[in-house]
Amino acid sequence: MSRDVMKVREKKDRYKVCYMSGDDSGFDMMEGALLVLEALDLPIDWVRADLGWCMWEKSVAKFGEGDPRCNTVPPETIESIRSTDATLMAAITSKAGVKGFKSAILQMRQLFDLYINLRPAKTLPGVGTSLKNDPKIDIVMFRENTEDLYAAVEFCPLPAEQFDLHPGMERFKKSREVAVSWRVFSYEGCSRIIRAAFEYAKSTGRKTVHCSNKANVIRQTDGMMKRIFLEIAKEYEQYGIKGIEENADATAMWLIKNPQEYSVIVASNVFGDILSDEASQLTGGLGFAPSGNIGETTAIFEPSSGSVPKYAHKYRVNPCAMLLTSKMMLEYLGLNEAGRKIEKAIGEVLTADRPGTLTYDILRDFRGDPQWEANAASTIDMASEIALRINPGFKGDALEAAKAKVKAMCDWTKTIGFEK
Ligand code: IPM
Ligand code: MG
Repeated sequence: MSRDVMKVREKKDRYKVCYMSGDDSGFDMMEGALLVLEALDLPIDWVRADLGWCMWEKSVAKFGEGDPRCNTVPPETIESIRSTDATLMAAITSKAGVKGFKSAILQMRQLFDLYINLRPAKTLPGVGTSLKNDPKIDIVMFRENTEDLYAAVEFCPLPAEQFDLHPGMERFKKSREVAVSWRVFSYEGCSRIIRAAFEYAKSTGRKTVHCSNKANVIRQTDGMMKRIFLEIAKEYEQYGIKGIEENADATAMWLIKNPQEYSVIVASNVFGDILSDEASQLTGGLGFAPSGNIGETTAIFEPSSGSVPKYAHKYRVNPCAMLLTSKMMLEYLGLNEAGRKIEKAIGEVLTADRPGTLTYDILRDFRGDPQWEANAASTIDMASEIALRINPGFKGDALEAAKAKVKAMCDWTKTIGFEK
């Protein structure tokens, strides 16, 4: 049996962790998260790296537009991810229609073969769902993270010889334009994500694993995934774990009707992308949605949300997604107790409802406050409140010193990359 990929490769007394603020509000989120992590006094040495749109602009300024060296990820960042134990990443900005631009996180998922996209969706106190009877939700999604349509094998226009590859292409021969994206599944890719989901269920005492697929229509790719799922499921029956395969559209429906029936869900890349956003919406939305990209050699933890460019450096965004993401990273490092403290403190702040402690989205979406704009706390204020719940000494000078420290750590004018 190979090692437990959900944990860091080597247990250590101190860890080196790479942090990457990304773009825009990503810096605000990271500052908030680092403030709370400071309150925990962790055995972590931080290594700064940068990636995203800010690096794309820097590389274009350096090499000139169209130069193949232009990228959203500088070589320095790849080296920092490689040489640290884990990476904590905030949100990045994507811009459509920019020639040569490739998403930084998609590149990192492929480069480091981060095949598990782990996306938990758990009900938080003080952030109910809009569903009937306010069900308690505790879902952990295992989204395959490297294959499927994300393999990026695409054609437009379609080369002439490909029209003869399959009789089904006959009717497209007269089309004005034909684009094709290959949906690539491999035996290895399916097995490892399915196995990771079952292993997780086994080690956490969860009793069901659902596999969301469309084997009824997409016979080859999903058909193979379903077959492998049912094979692997048999091995886990002895642990009292039930493997249930179902159509992905049915999952989408049942997630709204009966979300409490789901525990672990495994899905291919595209279906998992969609279903994980749906599940996160049931538990507070993207402001609360953490995720982790995990592979054999390392892991990059990032919230599911985007970088909200309109609020860049305005400290408006909810720090919770980034904090719950940090919790996942702490668990990866085996620092579970610290992770538990973060979740508990978030719950306390959300239920205490003290004025000036919650960000605008929480007041608007969960408190129905018509004055949400005026009453909103900043990212740092909410993070400070959470930090104080963790560490009662985190006020006055100690708090101010920590704020100054993390502000300097996330100075967006001092990005690192493309230096040579
Ligand atoms: C996600 C995002 C990304 C994806 C985008 C930003 C490339 O939607 O992490 O779910 O499609 O995987
Ligand atoms: Mg997505």
